[in-house]
Amino acid sequence: MNHKKFAQSILLVAVIAVPTMTIASEELAQANNCLACHAVDQKLGGPAFNEIAAKYKGDAAAAALLADKIKNGGSGTWGQVPMPPNPAVSDADIATLVDWVLSL
Ligand code: HEC
Repeated sequence: MNHKKFAQSILLVAVIAVPTMTIASEELAQANNCLACHAVDQKLGGPAFNEIAAKYKGDAAAAALLADKIKNGGSGTWGQVPMPPNPAVSDADIATLVDWVLSL
């Protein structure tokens, strides 16, 4: 395979893989009931996921903080309504959800 072909196939993989990953993460949020209180672009019971992404943009500590919040719950960052703990969601799934939310 010459260089140009190689570059084209990498590009093709990226074009196919990126939207699929986004859908998979949204399905994960759906499967874990996150979407009962959150939407990507509007406030429901909880803050919109894209507003969460905007708030923590460039914050290197955000991923750990948000993973902890998803697992253990909490309140006071966005208002008085508490986010319930999610002990049944695996750490790997939480990491995927955090990456997805922060990417929005
Ligand atoms: C019963 C409603 C409810 C469910 C279900 C829920 N959330 Fe939340 N979430 C909230 C509320 C309310 C807040 C705001 C908490 C606060 O002000 O500190 C919040 C905040 C957050 C935040 C921002 C935390 C912060 O400190 O800025 C993230 C990220 C988040 N939720 C992700 C999730 C994910 C992922 C799930 C699914 C595993 C989920 N939420 C399920 C209600 C919910």
